[in-house]
Amino acid sequence: MVAKEYQIIAKNYELAGRASSDIKRTLKSTDIDRNLMKRVCSASYEAEINVVIHSFGGFATFQMDETKIVLNFIDDGPGISNIELAMTEGFSTATELDHSNGFGAGMGLPNIKRIADEMDLRSDIYGTHLKITFYIGGVSHDGQ
Ligand SMILES: Nc1ncnc2c1ncn2[C@@H]1O[C@H](COP(=O)(O)OP(=O)(O)OP(=O)(O)O)[C@@H](O)[C@H]1O
Ligand SMILES: [Mg+2]
Repeated sequence: MVAKEYQIIAKNYELAGRASSDIKRTLKSTDIDRNLMKRVCSASYEAEINVVIHSFGGFATFQMDETKIVLNFIDDGPGISNIELAMTEGFSTATELDHSNGFGAGMGLPNIKRIADEMDLRSDIYGTHLKITFYIGGVSHDGQ
């Protein structure tokens, strides 16, 4: 069992991606399938950037055992008012600054949904909790 936790700072484009880089480093030191590793890394990156650009800040947790990898991204708001809309490809509330940093295509959440085995997104005005699960071996995946 591996468990890690990372602070994610809002609007800090310099540090954005730091948690995901460490998760990638951690996974590289294991023998997990490279395709699974890529899926975990891109989902993690998308979720981390969302906390950086859309939230007031938060944290991520990474847990891995023999059967699964679980990522949690928890932030302090302002939350997602319409989750169904947020899940729509191309929908984004990103700012000009976000766009100039290469974010805001409105593809992050739909991509996470596509590449993860399970995705649970809950949100209210006090914050957002995104849980992403990947199964190691066994359960087949038809996402991509
Ligand atoms: N943690 C969050 N807190 C508040 N709003 C969020 C959060 N994550 C996503 N959203 C909302 O959901 C929308 C869609 O998110 P999604 O990741 O799909 O696209 P994006 O971040 O705007 O662009 P991209 O991910 O392609 O760079 C965002 O524009 C934002 O309005
Ligand atoms: Mg995004």
